[in-house]
Amino acid sequence: MDPIAYVNGSFVPLAEAKVSILDRGFLFADGIYEVSAVLDGKLVDNASHLARLERSVGEISLALPETLSRIVEIQRELIARNQLVSGLVYIEVTRGADVGRDFAFPKGVKPTLVMFTSVKDIINAPSASTGIGVITVPDIRWARRDIKSVALLAQVLAKQAAAEAGAGEAWMIEDGKVTEGGSSSAFILTQDDVLITRQNSSAILPGCTRKAVVALAEERQLRVEERPFTVEEALAAKEAFITSASSFVQAVVAIDGKSVANGRPGPMAARLREIYIEFARATAQ
Ligand code: PDD
Repeated sequence: MDPIAYVNGSFVPLAEAKVSILDRGFLFADGIYEVSAVLDGKLVDNASHLARLERSVGEISLALPETLSRIVEIQRELIARNQLVSGLVYIEVTRGADVGRDFAFPKGVKPTLVMFTSVKDIINAPSASTGIGVITVPDIRWARRDIKSVALLAQVLAKQAAAEAGAGEAWMIEDGKVTEGGSSSAFILTQDDVLITRQNSSAILPGCTRKAVVALAEERQLRVEERPFTVEEALAAKEAFITSASSFVQAVVAIDGKSVANGRPGPMAARLREIYIEFARATAQ
C-alpha cells in the first residue's frame, strides 16, 4: 500500500507530496513541527502535543492554517488511510512560500501544513529491553529550545555522532549540565530514589512524555526533583532514562561508553515505561 500524506488541503500519495522550493520551511527553517505517537490506531497524549504546537506557532507569530479540531480530523484520516496501528504522526507548519527569499515575514502568504505517518513498533522496540547507550556532545543550539522549531541541524549532527559511536541518543551538555537528548528528555534516578529531570525553560523543549511521566510518578508518591544534573551525577546514579513520543520511556545503560550502574536497564525505568504505556493505552483517542 502506498503511504498517503496530507499537503495543504489534499491527501496525496507520499511520493507525490510536494512543497515549493520557496517554502520558508525549506529556505529558513521558518516552521514548527510536532510528533504524536499512535498505539492501537489511536493518538497518544495528543492534546498535549497540539497545545505545544499552538504555543510554538504563537511564539514565532505564525497562524495555524487549520483549527486544532480540523488538524485532529486530518491526523485521524491519515491513520485510517494508512491503516496505521502503531507509529507516529508528523505535523509541520511553515510560514509558506513567498515569491522570493525575503527574510521578514511575507504578507498574504498562506502557511504550509504537511502531515504524514510512519510505522514504528514503539512497544516492542528491541532497545526497550536492552536499553541504549548515549554519547555527550556540546549543546550548540539556539536560545529558544522551548519552541519546537524545524531547525534541527544541531540535533542531526548530535544524533549522527551518536549513530557513528553505536549509541542510541546524544545528550547535549551546556555549562556542565545535561540539557536534554537530541530528540528526547533526560532523567536520572539518584541513589536515594529521587527522579531528576531538568526543569522547563528556554533551555529545553517541554517534553509531553516528560510531563506525563512526572505526573504519573508523582501520583504514585515517587519523589521528583526538577533541576539540571551533570554527567557525573548520571554515572553515579541508580538509573538513567529518556522519554519521548517516539520511545515512551527508554533506559539509558551507558554514557560515553561508561556503564550506568550495572549497565542493564533498571527496575524504575521498566516500571515507568509500563505505567506510561498503561496511561497511553487508557487515554489514547
Ligand atoms: N522529539 N527534547 C527534544 C529536543 C525533542 O526533539 C523531543 C521530541 C523531546 C521529547 O518530547 P516529547 O515527549 O513531547 O516527544 C525532548 C520528537 C519525538 C522528534 O523530534 O521526533
